[in-house]
Amino acid sequence: MTALTPLRTIPQGNLFRQGDVFVLFGELFGRGYANGLINEARKAGMTIIGVTVGRRDENNALRALTDEELAVAEANLGGRIINVPLMAGFDLDAPAGELTPTDMIADMSLKSWQTDKLDWAHIEKCREVGVSRFKNSVAQVMAELDRRIPDGSNVFFAHTMAGGIPKVKVFLAIANRIYKGRGERFMSTRALLDSDLGKLILKNFDEVTANTFQYLIEGSAAIRARVEQTGGQVRYTAYGYHGTEILLDGEYQWQTYTSYTQGQAKMRLERIAEAAWEQGVKATVYNCPEIRTNSSDIFVGVELSLFPLLFALRKECDGPWVEAQWQACRELLQEGTSLEALLQRIDDYNANDVMKSFRNYAAWPMDNSEALANLMIGTSEEITQMHKDRKALVTDHLSALVLEGTGPLMFRETSQPSAPVLWLSHDIIAKQLCLLHA
Ligand SMILES: NC(=O)c1ccc[n+]([C@@H]2O[C@H](COP(=O)([O-])OP(=O)(O)OC[C@H]3O[C@@H](n4cnc5c(N)ncnc54)[C@H](O)[C@@H]3O)[C@@H](O)[C@H]2O)c1
Repeated sequence: MTALTPLRTIPQGNLFRQGDVFVLFGELFGRGYANGLINEARKAGMTIIGVTVGRRDENNALRALTDEELAVAEANLGGRIINVPLMAGFDLDAPAGELTPTDMIADMSLKSWQTDKLDWAHIEKCREVGVSRFKNSVAQVMAELDRRIPDGSNVFFAHTMAGGIPKVKVFLAIANRIYKGRGERFMSTRALLDSDLGKLILKNFDEVTANTFQYLIEGSAAIRARVEQTGGQVRYTAYGYHGTEILLDGEYQWQTYTSYTQGQAKMRLERIAEAAWEQGVKATVYNCPEIRTNSSDIFVGVELSLFPLLFALRKECDGPWVEAQWQACRELLQEGTSLEALLQRIDDYNANDVMKSFRNYAAWPMDNSEALANLMIGTSEEITQMHKDRKALVTDHLSALVLEGTGPLMFRETSQPSAPVLWLSHDIIAKQLCLLHA
């Protein structure tokens, strides 16, 4: 188990400058964490280079972006994109002419999936095909990058990849129950993890969320060697999740979203950074707070830990800017609903014994329970209803603040990173936001 090692002081390092190269290893979406780093790279005048995961054609074959898609993606990134599909995972890979894992689970039904068995020898062959496809694509990307990275420049590789849920109808229905179901629709994560389907999904999570970081570090070894020989330095970052310290009862305390089925993959990601670090490679996983993005919206209740950020801001730097954040949140609530009443609801939720029983770092990631699902999903729904508009939530505002705070923290700490695994919790994020605004 990794020791809990939160970043406690605002980093002062500043390695990166005009002409250095920032490589985003994953695609950029509107609300995604990577925007925090991209903003810093842009401010520093770095050359920004991105990649794509590619797209699937009507036969599910992986293809590069069309000229039009490429132009849109490059405008969004503010940099060139190397157009080689880097879709990770093996859910749609197989030896030529054979069934893919997605084909193998396509016939599972809501009635049968818990007892349906998979041919693991065949799955392993598919995994090997997927890994070798991905590594070959990384090699092509690196060959192209090598041409674009000048001798002696500093290079920042930012890994953002996470995912791996196969696209089959039955899993949509299961996911709706595991991540959103309560009462009669509740389903335990244990049921999923004990099934062959669940085991397959965890293997795919490992590939997408963790192993891609390893393939990035290995695949860029030649670039690293050349840059370092010519006076530059190379850094790697990845986004982890392993719970977050938030302000509860006046103290920063560790808590987590449950059920985080990607937890094992995120711990594997931490071990990859630790192993690279031991080899002298500066790779750091930053375990970041729960925010709402395209990827996290499926996890109903994940956003509840964001509200105490308002208290953290008051604790770290009360003043007009913090008051303006409170006010911006107030304005999103229905007439007659106070922010104080909402925050009281969150306090009660966090003080509940059911929630407390999940604040167990050593046991992470724990399975969910029906009591947890009822409480968390119920609270999430109640809080959403306190808003004027379900599409403009306090947690949108707070997510944007967290994202903004992580940018400079990660960018500066990575100049001279102190460890392979660091937590960015609400304390340091509030301190960083105060420094930026207050
Ligand atoms: N949102 C949160 O609450 C939260 C908290 C802590 C850490 N993170 C991590 O931050 C990182 C960015 O996520 P985000 O929440 O900003 O969402 P996002 O949707 O903006 O980013 C997800 C990333 O994963 C990539 N991706 C998805 N499936 C892929 C596949 N099969 N192959 C290759 N790449 C794939 C996408 O291209 C994108 O870059 C992830 O590693 C995520 O786990 C998120």
